[in-house]
Amino acid sequence: MSFSIGFVGAGQFAGHFASLFRLHPGVSAVYATDLIPERAERLVADLGLDGTFKDFDAMIQSEEVDAVAIFTQRWTHGEIAVKALRAGKDVYSAVPMAITRDEIAAIIQAVRETGRVYMMGETSYYNPAVVYARKQAAAGAFGDIFYAEGDYVHDMDLGFYDAYRFSGGEAWKETASYPPMLYPTHSIGGVLGVLPAHAVSVSCLGVVDQRGDGVFDRAVSRFGNDFSNASALFELSDGGVMRINEMRRVGYPSPIRESRFRFFGTEGSFEQIATVSVWQDKTEVHDVSALLATPETLAADHPSLADLSPTLRAAFSSGHAQVHDVQRLPSSFDGAPNGHEGSHQFLVDDFVAAVLQRSVPTVNAWVAARFTLPGIVAHESAVNGGVRLVIDDFGEAPETVGASVDALHEG
Ligand SMILES: NC(=O)c1ccc[n+]([C@@H]2O[C@H](COP(=O)([O-])OP(=O)(O)OC[C@H]3O[C@@H](n4cnc5c(N)ncnc54)[C@H](O)[C@@H]3O)[C@@H](O)[C@H]2O)c1
Repeated sequence: MSFSIGFVGAGQFAGHFASLFRLHPGVSAVYATDLIPERAERLVADLGLDGTFKDFDAMIQSEEVDAVAIFTQRWTHGEIAVKALRAGKDVYSAVPMAITRDEIAAIIQAVRETGRVYMMGETSYYNPAVVYARKQAAAGAFGDIFYAEGDYVHDMDLGFYDAYRFSGGEAWKETASYPPMLYPTHSIGGVLGVLPAHAVSVSCLGVVDQRGDGVFDRAVSRFGNDFSNASALFELSDGGVMRINEMRRVGYPSPIRESRFRFFGTEGSFEQIATVSVWQDKTEVHDVSALLATPETLAADHPSLADLSPTLRAAFSSGHAQVHDVQRLPSSFDGAPNGHEGSHQFLVDDFVAAVLQRSVPTVNAWVAARFTLPGIVAHESAVNGGVRLVIDDFGEAPETVGASVDALHEG
């Protein structure tokens, strides 16, 4: 059994995932569309995909396409996801799920009503530190985890200026000011990818940018945002505490490791810096760095794989960490591109499995909401001087999705 998938958005990141979907034995065809048609045509030509559609509407109206992969700019996903679900397509969405509570609610309602699969491609879910901490937590090695930290530490000077210029064209400064806490999933997702808890309230402080280059300028910003760094303290549903940092002006080598985590339990703890990870109990420190990384997984992610020869590709992030369960991946992924510390291949495989088995994926709409909404509320808190705000919860995912893969064609 196999299904076809259409990429909406053929910019810098889409190539990483289009190449993997093309290689997966569960995928029969991969298409692309972009507001800038040459980008879709180039992606198709470079990766040997199956064709383009003139626009997103044509793609979701087509019976040739069973699922949609959303790789448009980060503030656009909510509406596109709902339209695709309502058109009967299964949806893979790059992060974040959405940027408002209403958009999140609309996606969850659409998933409920259509029975389609929705998955958010949160790379930190398969970050080696998160995989390791999940295993330690399942084995009871932490005791009770009462405090955890997630940092997404990505300086604007390390690739973001170029990325936003590519993404936003002449008016790029309007959107380069995207609020850090509206991109919270690489930090929150890593912490909540381990803990059996969700955030219930938050107090957040934003740091007003001082660079003066017109990027984090409220008069220019589409989001009215002048924070380039923000730190939030969350109350969790199990009584624990989560501290989250979203940093865009920071002297830190984000190409080596842009998400980092710490977990403190009553019996054991885990701490991580750029190149070192340790497990600790009450008497010893165990350096687990080699379990969680190789020089290949810690190499920088290239913004796009579409134009890379295999030789050039070798200079960028690839491979897996020892802690990753590579046995579960299809053999067609051997030597295939990977990224974000070895996470990409697992996300693609998770989505393909959920679509073919009609099962609820790992980072389903309910989990995605728990990874995304806390950041939205944290930003609101920061805008209001750090006032503590309650975070709504949409609950747990149902155990099954509704429609079969054939229902799309029968309907
Ligand atoms: N670690 C991660 O998970 C990670 C890393 C990088 C990027 N991302 C996410 O991936 C997404 C894509 O990032 P990117 O850097 O490739 O962005 P990009 O700006 O380079 O590309 C987005 C493309 O989408 C196209 N587009 C926008 N709206 C469209 C529409 N309605 N129909 C068709 N095409 C449309 C644009 O023309 C553009 O070419 C972002 O949401 C980003 O948050 C995630």
